[in-house]
Amino acid sequence: MLYKSSLKNRQKIKEENLRHVAIIMDGNGRWAEKRGKIRTLGHKEGFKTARKIVKFAVENNIEILTLYVFSKENWKRPKLEIIALMKLFFFALKSEIKNLNKYNIRLKIIGDISSFNERLQNYIYKVEKKTLNNTGLILNIAANYSGRWDITQGVKKVIKAVQKGFLNIEQIQEQNFSQYLSTSELLPVDLVVRTGGEKRISNFFLWQIAYSELYFTDILWPDFNQRDFQHAINYFFTRERRFGGI
Ligand code: IPE
Ligand code: IPE
Ligand code: MG
Repeated sequence: MLYKSSLKNRQKIKEENLRHVAIIMDGNGRWAEKRGKIRTLGHKEGFKTARKIVKFAVENNIEILTLYVFSKENWKRPKLEIIALMKLFFFALKSEIKNLNKYNIRLKIIGDISSFNERLQNYIYKVEKKTLNNTGLILNIAANYSGRWDITQGVKKVIKAVQKGFLNIEQIQEQNFSQYLSTSELLPVDLVVRTGGEKRISNFFLWQIAYSELYFTDILWPDFNQRDFQHAINYFFTRERRFGGI
């Protein structure tokens, strides 16, 4: 199977309207534990996988890639693991800013970033700003994100809009409610990929995946490669999306 970017693959991705892929990158901890290493090592390895997958997305003209890097529930983890994850997030932003610009990638962070320390928050704003005018891949990072949080914050915003008189309750429709979610500027999710064997959503996108195709693989995230990503994409190609029609 061809996994390198080919003109044909790019064309097929375009024809099949595969525009937004979202990935639940799971299995870092188990990958490390299997090797008798600390879980943090799995996260570091997982970062390397993320770089390869981003490159693949760029080469294949995928318009939006969302990566779920930290859920609201992940704060339940041991303090040391959380500290390591925050450090890695900071390091990743810092070390990749050049490449983001080189590959014309616009970085966007969604999630409740107010819980992060000030240094990390400021760096997030900085990288978003520095890549704002890039017109290639939108790399959307879901950090301290949860699907229920997103809907709840959207409800609060819509209520405020009603209170201020910008909107009547009757005017609230599915279409315009989407505008209050953190994904308002993004296209709908076409394909969700979850690595690591679990067949669940773990409070990732909820509203946004109403008609997404779902692909689950047992491969642990650090082992996931471009060929595996191509398998997920090939699976998407086999789906007939009816959106309720016939
Ligand atoms: C996913 O890998 C990364 C994060 C949640 C930050 P895990 O850390 O959940 O790895 P497993 O599922 O324990 O193997
Ligand atoms: C989902 O993985 C969150 C991320 C990949 C960021 P988890 O490992 O947190 O999910 P559960 O606990 O297995 O549902
Ligand atoms: Mg996990």
